[in-house]
Amino acid sequence: MKEIIFATKNKGKIKEIQAILGNDYIVKSMEEIGIDIDVVEDGKTFEENAIKKAVEIKNVTNKIVLADDSGLEIDYLNGEPGVYSARYMGEDTPYDVKNAKILEILKDVEEDKRGARFVSVIALAMPGKDPITTKGTIEGIIGYEIKGENGFGYDPIFYIPSLEKTSAELSLEEKNKISHRGKALEEMKKILEKMV
Ligand code: IMP
Repeated sequence: MKEIIFATKNKGKIKEIQAILGNDYIVKSMEEIGIDIDVVEDGKTFEENAIKKAVEIKNVTNKIVLADDSGLEIDYLNGEPGVYSARYMGEDTPYDVKNAKILEILKDVEEDKRGARFVSVIALAMPGKDPITTKGTIEGIIGYEIKGENGFGYDPIFYIPSLEKTSAELSLEEKNKISHRGKALEEMKKILEKMV
């Protein structure tokens, strides 16, 4: 079994990536290998941040490292919050407050101008090799109300017209099949099969 470090402190993400990569790989968190480094996410793109995280952790561990960066782009806000999704309106502001505020900003905006997408970029860093990234997106619109109990973050306002549901109304399995992160991870799995 090949060992891969996933540069996250989020246990949910480790489970998600292990489920997608399957039994040929063992995915470990930074905690599991005894590393506690906060990489500053100061890039202007998802790619820059994901590569920075993966490369910094690879340089410390000399192991194969994956890292991700993701966020929500809202067309009406010129792509914001984008790479600032976690920090938008303040890191400690609860998402029900952030989501209510976004609905308020968009309250008079017509449906065809409410376009939005979740974006995820996964970076692979390997000793002695240049980093490689994959990207996944899911298109939707900003809904008109907060709806759904599952997921996290902006899920309750991210409405997927083809499913007539917000992503917070999907089960974890349903979401993983179509999500930005799921798609980026599936692409990365193909690269890992060739490279690792
Ligand atoms: P991270 O880079 O994966 O930590 O995600 C950054 C931020 O993007 C999160 O804190 C959320 O605000 C937002 N985000 C990313 N993916 C999702 C998602 O699947 N649902 C809801 N919000 C998300």
